[in-house]
Amino acid sequence: MTVATHNQRIVDQFTRWAKPFSELPIHAEADAMARTLRACALTPDTDALDVACGPGILACAQAPHARAVTGIDITPAMIEQARARQAAAGLENMAWHVGDATALPFESASFDRVTTRYSFHHMRDPAATLAEMVRVCRSGGRIVVIDATPSPETQAAYDAMERLRDPSHTSALTLEQLREIGREAGLREVVVDGYRLEAELSTLADPSDMPALAAMFDADIASGQDRIGVGARRTHAGILFHFPVSIVAWERLDGKR
Ligand SMILES: C[S@@+](CC[C@H](N)C(=O)[O-])C[C@H]1O[C@@H](n2cnc3c(N)ncnc32)[C@H](O)[C@@H]1O
Repeated sequence: MTVATHNQRIVDQFTRWAKPFSELPIHAEADAMARTLRACALTPDTDALDVACGPGILACAQAPHARAVTGIDITPAMIEQARARQAAAGLENMAWHVGDATALPFESASFDRVTTRYSFHHMRDPAATLAEMVRVCRSGGRIVVIDATPSPETQAAYDAMERLRDPSHTSALTLEQLREIGREAGLREVVVDGYRLEAELSTLADPSDMPALAAMFDADIASGQDRIGVGARRTHAGILFHFPVSIVAWERLDGKR
């Protein structure tokens, strides 16, 4: 698949999901957000950039703690949601861009914090995106990646489940793979944290995909092996499971300003 085809797939997927995604409470869940903000270590003079910001949930949570926050996303419908969220929250220190994470339209060393949440598993080359994030981060600044990180044993089954739910899913890195691309980028790791994000399957899938997804989850539940690695179980509320999310923060320390 070409880059253009993949990017179009992302825009199609997230144009359909922009509003439901922005309204799902799990995406603003308090403990997860508190851990994420702790890793960001924002101060009142911080200039922050959130890459693949979607509907601006993380960016808007950062804004009260920073001097300015910029969000960028490839899907225009997501940026529309982000602008609406900013207006509803009455935040003024924010700017939004439509653009590609692999070619950020910013000068080098423009930001003190560069974050991205739940996006690396949509990237064909997460290391290339990390390199762009490093480029636009000032020396002494922090880069924070938050994403689902299946174990090495469950990675293939996890990816198969996610591709069924979302055709723009590429592959979720394991925590060790994520830490490794940070090391390869010459970054100093300063935080490794994580959380389990509990979800109900039907809130995250197109109704047309539910029969195949439910069959996959039911087979996993029946096996008793947790091969997908998401702790799936059937309850009166439907199929519950969790995303195994990691937070990794690094400092850029190379004398460039
Ligand atoms: C699962 S959503 C996460 C949104 C947001 N980061 C959050 O945590 O709420 C993934 C987002 O990544 C964006 N995205 C995927 N690939 C991208 C790319 N190459 N450049 C910019 N945005 C991208 C999608 O448009 C979508 O809004």
